Amino acid sequence: LICAPVMGESVDDMLMEMRKAKEYGADLVEVRLDYIKNFSPRKDLDTLIRECPLPTLITYRPKWEGGLYEGDENKRLDALRVAMELGVDYIDIELQVAHEFIHSVHAKKPEKFKIIVSSHNYQSTPSVEDIGDLVARIQATGADIVKIATTALEITDVARMFQIIVHSQVPIIGLVMGERGLMSRLLCPKFGGYLTFGAIEAGKLSAPGQPTIKDLLDKYNFRQIGPDTKVFGVIGKPVSQSKSPLLYNNAFKSIGYNGVYVQFLVDDIAKFLKTYPSPDFAGFSCTMPHKEAALEYLDEIDPIAKLIGAVNCIVRRSDGKLSGYNTDYFGAISAIEDGLRSLLAGKLFVVIGAGGAGKALAFGAKEKGARVVIANRTFDRASKLADIVGGQAISLMELDNFHPEDGMVLANTTSIGMQPKVDETPIPKKALSNYSLVFDAVYTPKLTRLLREAEECGATVVSGLEMFIRQAYEQYERFTGLPAPKELFR
Ligand SMILES: NC(=O)c1ccc[n+]([C@@H]2O[C@H](COP(=O)([O-])OP(=O)(O)OC[C@H]3O[C@@H](n4cnc5c(N)ncnc54)[C@H](OP(=O)(O)O)[C@@H]3O)[C@@H](O)[C@H]2O)c1
Repeated sequence: LICAPVMGESVDDMLMEMRKAKEYGADLVEVRLDYIKNFSPRKDLDTLIRECPLPTLITYRPKWEGGLYEGDENKRLDALRVAMELGVDYIDIELQVAHEFIHSVHAKKPEKFKIIVSSHNYQSTPSVEDIGDLVARIQATGADIVKIATTALEITDVARMFQIIVHSQVPIIGLVMGERGLMSRLLCPKFGGYLTFGAIEAGKLSAPGQPTIKDLLDKYNFRQIGPDTKVFGVIGKPVSQSKSPLLYNNAFKSIGYNGVYVQFLVDDIAKFLKTYPSPDFAGFSCTMPHKEAALEYLDEIDPIAKLIGAVNCIVRRSDGKLSGYNTDYFGAISAIEDGLRSLLAGKLFVVIGAGGAGKALAFGAKEKGARVVIANRTFDRASKLADIVGGQAISLMELDNFHPEDGMVLANTTSIGMQPKVDETPIPKKALSNYSLVFDAVYTPKLTRLLREAEECGATVVSGLEMFIRQAYEQYERFTGLPAPKELFR
């Protein structure tokens, strides 16, 4: 279920938000009474409950549990009793006062009415034993539904909440707040959580880390997630900007593949891989800053990825072991060869940059039989890479007048020209007429200054977006074992 918190300052605002929640596809709304200014319980609750177009949960969160209400405690609990009398579907009551409250309404409790007893921890996520004890204490109050919200300091904290939810004998809402806890909100149907919260608008959250209803439904295919859904995702830091979830989840949906692709905001890759060893976590894309560190924790590494010294794709094999690949080089080299309408063999291939992407391009071109030249700001790095690849190193200064032959290929693998510094370029325009094709790994913007000037000099240009798309469908095929619906990746 998707529950939309509504937090208007007036009853009219609340009603407007409720209508939006229904329109966007939520299943129920949580009315946060503590947000209403000049709240008059009987009158306002009557309107809110009567006019809500969806099943309704009433919450009146006090300041001592992270809400806004600071008034008299009896008045707060009275308002919840009134909500029950008026026929609301659910109320949320904090563990600290739940026992007494439930006792007070026990005799009058309507059959369909459910009480959620909640506990919020805004500091951390306790051990499995401590969360288990908390569940038991909540159950002992007579709760119909248990709600526990903790805070993720690391993404590995979420594993403990999943463990609790999977083994819970009672309906349970188990969420881990914060950006590192996002997965607990997205995967709630997989592990059996009763509901997740979906914000009506981005930035209008009732707790940190909430996705929007729209993202849950459109970006993560929330309705398609079930116990057998395989989980994939991008491991990185930062990852919130990643377009990959949309790309992969669209592709999964198009062929009815039972998988979901999420973001994993990971601080420590070794700990992450160790904490999520189950076959449920079937594959990972790997981005900065973990591409190189990941190698150490894999059971098998593709030979080219080993040479490059970086993986961007990790697949869990049927025996549970992890295999690593580098699909970056495949994406870039195949796009360049398509752009050339010929093979790279024998061509002079100039790479600017000697970082992760530089290595991938250099080894990829070498594997295709090109002669490789590396130009890098830190000359030492260029030298080292040229030595391993079996190529030549030059300085960035030399690059400006480098013209041993016509028809060379140039690949920029530095971040020069990337948004927001779109006016920058790694090489003067006059040097570009020496190249038949120019590739730029930067893909924001799609047409960089480098590519625009190369085009003006008559070179064929290939955008980093092409590399990104192609490496993504190569990963998709490794993840699913199925041909990628390539048109959907464009
Ligand atoms: N299209 C795709 O699918 C794709 C895939 C991967 C990466 N990329 C893009 O490729 C770029 C590089 O990524 P990466 O992972 O290779 O990064 P990286 O490992 O950090 O390497 C960065 C490289 O750029 C050079 N560099 C950075 N700033 C520079 C500047 N101001 N002037 C001169 N050289 C500079 C560095 O030189 P030093 O050695 O001197 O520091 C280094 O060689 C990024 O823009 C990334 O978005 C695109």
